[in-house]
Amino acid sequence: GQRIVVTGAASGIGAATAAAFTAAGAEVIGIDRNPAEDFSGEFIQADLSSPQGVADAAAQVSGTIHGLANIAGVPGTAPFELVLAVNVFGLRELTKALLPRIADGGFVTNLASSVAAGWAERRSQLFAFVSAADWDGALAGVHQDAEVTGNSYRFSKEAVRLLTELQASENLGRVRVNSVSPGPVETPILADFKKDHGVDKVEGAVTLLGRAASARDIANVIMFLASPQAGWVNGTDIRVDGGLAAHRGSAQL
Ligand code: NAI
Repeated sequence: GQRIVVTGAASGIGAATAAAFTAAGAEVIGIDRNPAEDFSGEFIQADLSSPQGVADAAAQVSGTIHGLANIAGVPGTAPFELVLAVNVFGLRELTKALLPRIADGGFVTNLASSVAAGWAERRSQLFAFVSAADWDGALAGVHQDAEVTGNSYRFSKEAVRLLTELQASENLGRVRVNSVSPGPVETPILADFKKDHGVDKVEGAVTLLGRAASARDIANVIMFLASPQAGWVNGTDIRVDGGLAAHRGSAQL
């Protein structure tokens, strides 16, 4: 069986993804800062918000793996430093640490968001941010920028879109790297999104669509990206929002 690392595995989309890979016969290695109940697979409790936490997590992943699903994330209601640390740098560093262990033909799939659709407009700012050698330096570069600190979640997911392209281009022909951009998903984070993006916006979207996505709706697409059927899908993003952005005529939540 294939060995797949899933971050954020204790809740929501990560838990649904871990369950889907396990059901498909893979051996899942889950990582989360919170303990996971009834986790069927190996579980590493680690905090991906610091370089040391990421290094500790990576050191506990043994042997060759086939894929990495970077799903752990925090909402914009958390302090912006934490949002950027987990959603961007934790993802970047864990991927860097585990890529050499991913077998040829393997995959990395990153969780972005439909709110990041406008990322290309900020490409050079995002590039400077994601390329910073040390986390503190990158944060120092943006900590007085209200566009970033006031929209830390969106900025973090825009950075994930760029990181996905960079990671894909550095691993051409060996490991495919893509991202998935959900609209509202029924998980514990959704309550925070209501606070961050506005209750009316989120609930209006759910009313329009008839429901929010289930975590499984998103896991299904992550499973597709891990499959041979997605063998020529690389360096791109799949929006999974039930048609919300198409309906609104803009890709914003
Ligand atoms: P969730 O809150 O259910 O799961 C997130 C998981 O990440 C939690 O288990 C949490 O403990 C873990 N995590 C957070 N910080 C961590 C850290 N420092 N170290 C290790 N693990 C950490 O939320 P959900 O919805 O499953 O979110 C998964 C991903 O999907 C996130 O990246 C989120 O931004 C993204 N997303 C979610 C949407 C939604 O509406 N639920 C919409 C678009 C994107």
